[in-house]
Amino acid sequence: MTQGTGNAAAVGEYIAAAVDLVKTYNQGETQVRALDGVTVGFARAQFTAIAGPSGSGKSTLMHCMAGLDAATSGHIALDGTQLNGLSDRALTRVRRDKVGFVFQSFNLLPQLTALENIALPVTMSGRRLDRDLLDHLVGVLGIGNRMSHRPSELSGGQQQRVALARALVARPAVVFADEPTGNLDSRSGTEVLDFLRRSVRDLGQTVVMVTHDPRAAAYADRVLVLADGRIVDDVDTASGSDVTLALGTVGRAG
Ligand SMILES: Nc1ncnc2c1ncn2[C@@H]1O[C@H](COP(=O)(O)OP(=O)(O)O)[C@@H](O)[C@H]1O
Ligand SMILES: [Mg+2]
Repeated sequence: MTQGTGNAAAVGEYIAAAVDLVKTYNQGETQVRALDGVTVGFARAQFTAIAGPSGSGKSTLMHCMAGLDAATSGHIALDGTQLNGLSDRALTRVRRDKVGFVFQSFNLLPQLTALENIALPVTMSGRRLDRDLLDHLVGVLGIGNRMSHRPSELSGGQQQRVALARALVARPAVVFADEPTGNLDSRSGTEVLDFLRRSVRDLGQTVVMVTHDPRAAAYADRVLVLADGRIVDDVDTASGSDVTLALGTVGRAG
Protein backbone atom coordinates (compact mmCIF):
# COMPACT_ATOMS: atom_id res chain seq x y z
CA MET A 1 0.00 0.00 0.00
CA THR A 2 1.33 3.42 -0.86
CA GLN A 3 1.84 6.05 1.78
CA GLY A 4 -0.97 8.17 0.37
CA THR A 5 -3.55 5.39 0.39
CA GLY A 6 -2.60 4.45 3.92
CA ASN A 7 -3.07 8.00 5.11
CA ALA A 8 -6.47 8.29 3.48
CA ALA A 9 -7.61 5.04 5.08
CA ALA A 10 -6.29 6.11 8.48
CA VAL A 11 -8.10 9.44 8.24
CA GLY A 12 -11.38 7.89 7.10
CA GLU A 13 -12.23 6.05 10.32
CA TYR A 14 -12.06 9.11 12.53
CA ILE A 15 -14.11 12.25 12.97
CA ALA A 16 -10.82 14.15 13.26
CA ALA A 17 -7.37 13.00 12.29
CA ALA A 18 -3.86 14.28 11.73
CA VAL A 19 -1.09 12.60 9.77
CA ASP A 20 2.60 13.51 10.14
CA LEU A 21 1.72 16.89 11.59
CA VAL A 22 4.63 19.30 11.99
CA LYS A 23 4.41 22.83 13.32
CA THR A 24 7.43 25.06 13.71
CA TYR A 25 7.54 28.53 15.20
CA ASN A 26 10.26 31.10 14.74
CA GLN A 27 11.42 32.50 18.06
CA GLY A 28 13.97 35.15 17.11
CA GLU A 29 16.97 33.35 15.66
CA THR A 30 15.84 29.89 16.63
CA GLN A 31 13.09 27.60 15.41
CA VAL A 32 10.86 25.72 17.84
CA ARG A 33 9.38 22.44 16.62
CA ALA A 34 6.12 22.58 18.57
CA LEU A 35 4.77 19.49 16.77
CA ASP A 36 7.31 16.96 15.56
CA GLY A 37 5.39 14.50 13.37
CA VAL A 38 2.12 13.75 15.14
CA THR A 39 -0.23 11.14 13.68
CA VAL A 40 -3.47 10.64 15.58
CA GLY A 41 -7.16 9.96 15.04
CA PHE A 42 -10.06 10.87 17.28
CA ALA A 43 -13.01 8.48 17.29
CA ARG A 44 -16.59 9.71 17.22
CA ALA A 45 -18.36 10.02 20.58
CA GLN A 46 -15.15 9.56 22.53
CA PHE A 47 -13.67 11.81 25.22
CA THR A 48 -9.94 12.26 24.61
CA ALA A 49 -7.59 14.18 26.85
CA ILE A 50 -4.34 15.57 25.46
CA ALA A 51 -1.97 15.68 28.41
CA GLY A 52 1.68 16.49 28.94
CA PRO A 53 3.89 19.14 30.49
CA SER A 54 3.77 22.83 29.69
CA GLY A 55 5.30 23.55 26.29
CA SER A 56 4.86 19.98 25.00
CA GLY A 57 2.65 21.12 22.10
CA LYS A 58 -0.84 20.38 23.47
CA SER A 59 -2.39 23.72 22.52
CA THR A 60 -0.60 23.74 19.17
CA LEU A 61 -2.02 20.32 18.30
CA MET A 62 -5.51 21.41 19.32
CA HIS A 63 -5.27 24.71 17.42
CA CYS A 64 -4.08 23.01 14.23
CA MET A 65 -6.73 20.28 14.37
CA ALA A 66 -9.47 22.83 15.07
CA GLY A 67 -8.45 25.01 12.15
CA LEU A 68 -7.36 27.89 14.39
CA ASP A 69 -3.77 27.68 13.20
CA ALA A 70 -2.11 26.31 10.06
CA ALA A 71 0.34 23.42 10.37
CA THR A 72 3.76 23.71 8.75
CA SER A 73 3.34 20.30 7.09
CA GLY A 74 1.20 17.19 7.37
CA HIS A 75 -2.48 16.51 6.84
CA ILE A 76 -5.61 17.18 8.88
CA ALA A 77 -9.14 15.98 8.25
CA LEU A 78 -12.11 17.21 10.24
CA ASP A 79 -15.48 15.57 9.72
CA GLY A 80 -14.63 14.63 6.15
CA THR A 81 -13.03 17.94 5.19
CA GLN A 82 -9.30 18.18 4.47
CA LEU A 83 -8.00 21.37 6.08
CA ASN A 84 -4.78 21.54 4.06
CA GLY A 85 -4.68 24.33 1.59
CA LEU A 86 -8.04 25.80 2.55
CA SER A 87 -8.34 29.56 2.26
CA ASP A 88 -8.75 31.57 5.45
CA ARG A 89 -12.36 32.06 4.53
CA ALA A 90 -13.00 28.35 4.02
CA LEU A 91 -11.18 27.59 7.28
CA THR A 92 -13.38 30.07 9.11
CA ARG A 93 -16.43 28.30 7.74
CA VAL A 94 -15.11 24.90 8.87
CA ARG A 95 -14.51 26.24 12.38
CA ARG A 96 -17.94 27.82 12.49
CA ASP A 97 -19.80 24.76 11.19
CA LYS A 98 -17.84 21.87 12.68
CA VAL A 99 -16.11 22.97 15.88
CA GLY A 100 -17.17 24.03 19.36
CA PHE A 101 -14.54 25.75 21.53
CA VAL A 102 -14.09 25.97 25.28
CA PHE A 103 -11.17 28.04 26.56
CA GLN A 104 -9.50 28.42 29.94
CA SER A 105 -10.54 32.09 30.03
CA PHE A 106 -14.18 31.40 28.99
CA ASN A 107 -14.03 33.97 26.11
CA LEU A 108 -17.61 35.20 26.48
CA LEU A 109 -18.56 38.53 24.93
CA PRO A 110 -18.97 40.93 27.89
CA GLN A 111 -21.72 43.09 26.36
CA LEU A 112 -24.00 40.10 25.63
CA THR A 113 -26.20 38.17 28.05
CA ALA A 114 -25.55 34.50 28.75
CA LEU A 115 -28.34 33.50 26.37
CA GLU A 116 -27.05 35.80 23.62
CA ASN A 117 -23.55 34.37 24.07
CA ILE A 118 -24.86 30.81 23.76
CA ALA A 119 -26.94 31.60 20.67
CA LEU A 120 -24.37 33.73 18.85
CA PRO A 121 -22.40 31.04 16.95
CA VAL A 122 -25.61 29.47 15.67
CA THR A 123 -27.30 32.70 14.65
CA MET A 124 -24.11 34.04 13.04
CA SER A 125 -23.95 30.99 10.79
CA GLY A 126 -27.56 31.56 9.75
CA ARG A 127 -28.85 28.40 11.35
CA ARG A 128 -31.83 27.90 13.60
CA LEU A 129 -31.20 27.53 17.32
CA ASP A 130 -32.22 24.07 18.53
CA ARG A 131 -34.46 25.12 21.43
CA ASP A 132 -34.84 21.58 22.79
CA LEU A 133 -31.10 21.08 22.90
CA LEU A 134 -30.64 24.53 24.42
CA ASP A 135 -33.15 23.75 27.17
CA HIS A 136 -31.52 20.37 27.78
CA LEU A 137 -28.02 21.85 28.05
CA VAL A 138 -29.08 24.77 30.23
CA GLY A 139 -30.99 22.38 32.49
CA VAL A 140 -28.10 19.93 32.88
CA LEU A 141 -25.71 22.81 33.48
CA GLY A 142 -28.06 24.43 36.04
CA ILE A 143 -27.80 27.92 34.52
CA GLY A 144 -31.46 28.44 33.62
CA ASN A 145 -31.82 31.37 36.02
CA ARG A 146 -28.69 33.09 34.68
CA MET A 147 -29.70 33.50 31.05
CA SER A 148 -30.29 37.28 31.21
CA HIS A 149 -27.06 37.96 33.14
CA ARG A 150 -23.92 39.39 31.58
CA PRO A 151 -20.60 37.55 32.10
CA SER A 152 -19.44 40.12 34.71
CA GLU A 153 -22.45 39.14 36.82
CA LEU A 154 -21.51 35.45 36.75
CA SER A 155 -18.94 33.42 38.70
CA GLY A 156 -16.11 31.75 36.80
CA GLY A 157 -17.85 28.40 37.07
CA GLN A 158 -21.08 29.86 35.71
CA GLN A 159 -19.24 31.57 32.86
CA GLN A 160 -17.59 28.30 31.87
CA ARG A 161 -20.95 26.53 31.98
CA VAL A 162 -22.32 29.19 29.60
CA ALA A 163 -19.30 28.58 27.36
CA LEU A 164 -20.02 24.83 27.43
CA ALA A 165 -23.63 25.42 26.34
CA ARG A 166 -22.37 27.71 23.57
CA ALA A 167 -19.90 25.06 22.38
CA LEU A 168 -22.45 22.23 22.29
CA VAL A 169 -25.68 23.86 21.15
CA ALA A 170 -24.61 23.92 17.49
CA ARG A 171 -23.99 20.13 17.55
CA PRO A 172 -20.38 20.48 16.38
CA ALA A 173 -18.47 17.51 15.00
CA VAL A 174 -15.88 18.04 17.74
CA VAL A 175 -15.73 20.11 20.92
CA PHE A 176 -12.15 21.23 21.56
CA ALA A 177 -11.46 22.43 25.10
CA ASP A 178 -8.11 23.96 26.09
CA GLU A 179 -7.51 23.69 29.86
CA PRO A 180 -11.24 24.26 30.55
CA THR A 181 -10.77 23.84 34.31
CA GLY A 182 -7.58 25.91 34.52
CA ASN A 183 -9.23 29.02 35.98
CA LEU A 184 -11.77 27.25 38.19
CA ASP A 185 -11.90 26.08 41.79
CA SER A 186 -11.92 22.33 42.18
CA ARG A 187 -15.70 22.04 42.64
CA SER A 188 -16.49 24.05 39.49
CA GLY A 189 -13.78 22.16 37.65
CA THR A 190 -15.35 18.85 38.60
CA GLU A 191 -18.73 20.07 37.32
CA VAL A 192 -17.17 20.99 33.97
CA LEU A 193 -15.47 17.59 33.67
CA ASP A 194 -18.63 15.72 34.68
CA PHE A 195 -20.57 17.67 32.07
CA LEU A 196 -18.06 16.94 29.31
CA ARG A 197 -18.11 13.24 30.14
CA ARG A 198 -21.90 13.24 30.24
CA SER A 199 -22.13 15.03 26.86
CA VAL A 200 -20.09 12.21 25.32
CA ARG A 201 -22.21 9.51 26.92
CA ASP A 202 -25.68 11.07 26.54
CA LEU A 203 -25.37 13.17 23.37
CA GLY A 204 -22.65 11.25 21.52
CA GLN A 205 -20.55 14.40 21.43
CA THR A 206 -16.89 14.00 20.45
CA VAL A 207 -14.69 15.90 22.91
CA VAL A 208 -10.96 16.62 22.80
CA MET A 209 -9.63 18.32 25.92
CA VAL A 210 -6.17 19.71 26.51
CA THR A 211 -5.04 19.51 30.12
CA HIS A 212 -1.86 19.27 32.17
CA ASP A 213 -3.87 18.04 35.17
CA PRO A 214 -3.86 14.23 35.60
CA ARG A 215 -7.06 14.44 37.65
CA ALA A 216 -8.83 16.10 34.71
CA ALA A 217 -7.30 13.68 32.21
CA ALA A 218 -8.69 10.75 34.20
CA TYR A 219 -12.23 11.79 33.19
CA ALA A 220 -11.46 10.97 29.56
CA ASP A 221 -11.84 7.64 27.74
CA ARG A 222 -8.41 8.02 26.28
CA VAL A 223 -5.35 10.03 27.26
CA LEU A 224 -2.74 11.04 24.71
CA VAL A 225 0.47 12.14 26.34
CA LEU A 226 2.70 14.63 24.50
CA ALA A 227 6.32 15.47 25.20
CA ASP A 228 8.43 17.76 23.02
CA GLY A 229 5.87 17.76 20.24
CA ARG A 230 5.54 13.99 19.99
CA ILE A 231 3.02 11.45 21.26
CA VAL A 232 4.82 9.44 23.94
CA ASP A 233 1.85 7.55 25.38
CA ASP A 234 -1.71 6.69 24.40
CA VAL A 235 -3.74 5.32 27.30
CA ASP A 236 -7.17 3.71 27.11
CA THR A 237 -8.54 4.59 30.56
CA ALA A 238 -11.37 2.03 30.24
CA SER A 239 -8.75 -0.71 30.17
CA GLY A 240 -7.93 0.13 33.77
CA SER A 241 -4.52 1.59 32.99
CA ASP A 242 -3.35 4.06 35.56
CA VAL A 243 -3.44 7.53 34.03
CA THR A 244 -1.36 9.18 36.70
CA LEU A 245 1.28 6.50 36.25
CA ALA A 246 1.28 7.07 32.50
CA LEU A 247 1.73 10.77 33.10
CA GLY A 248 4.68 10.10 35.35
CA THR A 249 3.32 12.18 38.20
CA VAL A 250 3.52 9.47 40.86
CA GLY A 251 6.65 7.86 42.17
CA ARG A 252 7.49 4.25 41.48
CA ALA A 253 6.06 1.88 44.08
CA GLY A 254 8.39 0.11 46.48
N1 LIG B 1 2.85 31.69 18.74
C1 LIG B 1 3.99 31.11 19.08
N2 LIG B 1 5.18 31.63 18.71
C2 LIG B 1 6.34 31.02 19.04
N3 LIG B 1 6.43 29.87 19.74
C3 LIG B 1 5.29 29.30 20.15
C4 LIG B 1 4.01 29.88 19.85
N4 LIG B 1 3.06 29.07 20.38
C5 LIG B 1 3.70 28.06 20.98
N5 LIG B 1 5.03 28.19 20.85
C6 LIG B 1 6.04 27.25 21.37
O1 LIG B 1 5.69 25.95 20.94
C7 LIG B 1 5.89 25.00 21.99
C8 LIG B 1 4.59 24.30 22.31
O2 LIG B 1 3.68 25.26 22.84
P1 LIG B 1 2.19 24.91 23.26
O3 LIG B 1 1.54 24.15 22.16
O4 LIG B 1 1.54 26.16 23.70
O5 LIG B 1 2.43 23.92 24.50
P2 LIG B 1 1.42 23.48 25.67
O6 LIG B 1 0.03 23.85 25.28
O7 LIG B 1 1.65 22.00 25.80
O8 LIG B 1 1.88 24.19 26.90
C9 LIG B 1 6.50 25.77 23.14
O9 LIG B 1 7.89 25.67 23.08
C10 LIG B 1 6.05 27.19 22.87
O10 LIG B 1 6.98 28.10 23.42
MG1 LIG C 1 -1.36 25.14 26.24
